[in-house]
Amino acid sequence: MIGRDLLGIEDLERSDIERILETAERMQEIGERQVKKVPTLRGRTIVNLFFEPSTRTRASFEIAGKRLSADVVNFSPGASSLSKAESILDTALTLDAMDPDVVIVRHKVAGVPKRLADSLRAPVVNAGDGAHEHPTQALLDMLTVKQEKGRIDGLTVTIIGDIAHSRVARSNIYGFSKMGAEVRVVGPPPMLPADVESLGVKAYISLREALEGADVVMALRIQLERVQGALFPSIREYAATFGLDRAKLRYAKDDAIVMHPGPVNRGVELSHDLADHRPSVILDQVRNGVALRMAVLYLIAGLAPGEESAP
Ligand code: CP
Repeated sequence: MIGRDLLGIEDLERSDIERILETAERMQEIGERQVKKVPTLRGRTIVNLFFEPSTRTRASFEIAGKRLSADVVNFSPGASSLSKAESILDTALTLDAMDPDVVIVRHKVAGVPKRLADSLRAPVVNAGDGAHEHPTQALLDMLTVKQEKGRIDGLTVTIIGDIAHSRVARSNIYGFSKMGAEVRVVGPPPMLPADVESLGVKAYISLREALEGADVVMALRIQLERVQGALFPSIREYAATFGLDRAKLRYAKDDAIVMHPGPVNRGVELSHDLADHRPSVILDQVRNGVALRMAVLYLIAGLAPGEESAP
């Protein structure tokens, strides 16, 4: 993957995903050391180009880069020449002229990372673009499931919520399907794209049916700031029908795990109890995000064949 862009899970082969997950598992050991730093990416420069707010993705890319000894530059749109009407492309080309080794891009508009990848010399990693894809979120979700269940192949994964507007759902649908899982999606009809089954998933409007036999239950964040009234009548009604609590979770397998990409609307997608306690693995997802992003940075910006050997 040296020098390649990572724009979406749709573009990856199963073997690419397996390689990234195996590399991430090796990276996890570094995070358990007292001194959490190796020289692997010393001399490399990573630019975090986030045009949309983020806590988990941005911080974990920064920590991942620093654990590998890369220099990490965090671009702040509000303090940049964007406020002087410089375009996104000119901003990215300007930073690219400083010779970074990877540019991480998040933008609210689908397709912006691809547009920049077409123009920049540095490889681009998509950190979430509109409702299109969020590939490193899906990869860290797959890593979490692999470690919890020992495998992905043959599992049943149920994704609950606003499938139509979720980049996390789209990337996870591609990823878990490529890895051999059965993927189900469930939510109010306006949240299910009409053609969603063409992606190889089974669509449900009954939460109970979607949960029966599930090994993994993933609740998506409801974008309250955007969708209330447009996609469901009220938060209370959504929570009553599709919000996950221990009573509804009984329909899934006894050892089912609960996931959420964050940030959680407590009492909406998940009960307070499930947000904080097993079988939810939300903070494991966050922790795995660092090792997973270390793997992505290493595989894209690491040592090319012929350079000094990797650790
Ligand atoms: N899951 C996720 O992308 O979270 P952030 O928006 O905090 O990065």
